[in-house]
Amino acid sequence: MDTNTPNFDSLARAYRWMEYCSFGPMLERCRFHFLSRCAQARHALVLGDGDGRFTARLMAANPAVQVDAVDASAAMLAVLQGRAQSCCPDADTRLHTIQADLRGFTPTDKDYDLVVSHFFLDCLTDDDVSALVERLLPALTEDAIWVVSEFSIPKKGLRRAAARLAVRSLYFVFFVLARLRVDRIPDYAKAFRDRGFHRREDAEYLGGILTAELWKRRTD
Ligand SMILES: C[S@@+](CC[C@H](N)C(=O)[O-])C[C@H]1O[C@@H](n2cnc3c(N)ncnc32)[C@H](O)[C@@H]1O
Repeated sequence: MDTNTPNFDSLARAYRWMEYCSFGPMLERCRFHFLSRCAQARHALVLGDGDGRFTARLMAANPAVQVDAVDASAAMLAVLQGRAQSCCPDADTRLHTIQADLRGFTPTDKDYDLVVSHFFLDCLTDDDVSALVERLLPALTEDAIWVVSEFSIPKKGLRRAAARLAVRSLYFVFFVLARLRVDRIPDYAKAFRDRGFHRREDAEYLGGILTAELWKRRTD
């Protein structure tokens, strides 16, 4: 990991409580919005899942899925692994954790039919997201889905001001605590569309400040 890689280690144990104190259950609801759509997945690539709340729920809900979870933070991955083990006794055989900076990561495995990124793409720039999607494409099945949760800035009104304030505050906190140098949400939708994904479904939380989206690789 180079010195530019953000370091979320110090947040790993407190992360869940920081989230509940700031957004209550809303991020959690957003994160799990498309969980039922992951029921058919057999090989999932989970990007920047942090403390593993999604990974654990996915593995419990879908006993057939194998998960590769990639995160730069060793401490986050340790919490993720512990959480998966406490909900799934067979987690050792179904979960593979990979500590890597996703800005340079190329999967060695193939045939992922599910990619998941919850509140992670906002740690990347436009160019980082484009390059990541490009590198992942050869490792995805033709009908792979990508489940995304993200912050979103509504087009106008009070909600726009509230969203801008929330997002700015979060970037400030992550800059101070994790050395995250990104300061705006990337245009991941463009990166996805440019590479043949289309948005099949989406849902808003907190008046549009949070978005849950399901992207699919080809039109059907
Ligand atoms: C804001 S947290 C989101 C955690 C979780 N997905 C959630 O839903 O709350 C971002 C996570 O992405 C990881 N991360 C940030 N930048 C990364 C990078 N360049 N490569 C790999 N992981 C990264 C952090 O270590 C952290 O676990």
